[in-house]
Amino acid sequence: MVFKKIRSLVGRLFSENMQMKIILQLSNFFWGLRKYFLSVVIDYPEDFRINWKNIKNQSSQDKERNFTVYQLVKLHNKIFEGMHTNIIEFGTDRGATLTTISKFIKKDSQIFSVDSFGFHAKEIKENISKFDEHYQGSYRPFTKQTRFKDFDHVQMTKNLNEILSKKNSNLETIVGYFPNLNKECMAKISNLKFSFVHLDYDLYQSTLDSFNFVKERLEKNAIILFDDFNFINQEGVKKAVKDLKIDLDKGFQTQSGQLILFN
Ligand SMILES: C[S@@+](CC[C@H](N)C(=O)[O-])C[C@H]1O[C@@H](n2cnc3c(N)ncnc32)[C@H](O)[C@@H]1O
Repeated sequence: MVFKKIRSLVGRLFSENMQMKIILQLSNFFWGLRKYFLSVVIDYPEDFRINWKNIKNQSSQDKERNFTVYQLVKLHNKIFEGMHTNIIEFGTDRGATLTTISKFIKKDSQIFSVDSFGFHAKEIKENISKFDEHYQGSYRPFTKQTRFKDFDHVQMTKNLNEILSKKNSNLETIVGYFPNLNKECMAKISNLKFSFVHLDYDLYQSTLDSFNFVKERLEKNAIILFDDFNFINQEGVKKAVKDLKIDLDKGFQTQSGQLILFN
């Protein structure tokens, strides 16, 4: 309880970029110790390592969590080999996980990313609930002045589509506050079934709304990845999972705090 408050204070004191630098260093150090205490060494595939090097400065995840995304995308590719599939990410920020998804997704994939990209910070702030203690009174991470300063989601979409078009695939970024998207955008994603879902909104209400939306729109064997599930300053995510009555016995909690479900 005391540590949760200290961690939240640290989060508020440092800028988003500084926090991420500290977290990446601490995470590297911590997971590096696996070798000495548990004799575990992970051989990260070269394509993963190259991608991580390119995205780590804009990532709000550490390497371990990004490796989960990488592995699940590869698993998804095997499960849905030869099929046209739809993928959706709720919570893209400056595109670190979206880049991992786009780089490693199989051919014939339609990807959607739904984020405020800083344009709907006011709505995000208004919907911060009592379960999102760390974010109360502070919405710095989601504004155009802070996290999204100098970031252009149109350029990101263009860059990723250059990679995806070679795989007969495509990315569409949807700017808005979910679930209050404009009618046209909502219609686009409403009549689809999804094979891979990344839920990374950090907040209680956003997590609740996005899961309620996708749960009836899942392919058989679809993979659903919740980021931040066991994070003490993003406790709204766990509360949302609880209120959604998700059976944790059907899921898998990673050591780096994510929750994986299979449909
Ligand atoms: C932790 S970040 C996502 C991190 C990202 N996946 C990465 O790889 O770095 C959370 C994002 O969710 C967005 N967000 C939260 N609630 C939202 C909502 N209801 N609608 C749209 N965007 C939302 C914020 O704008 C923020 O960019």
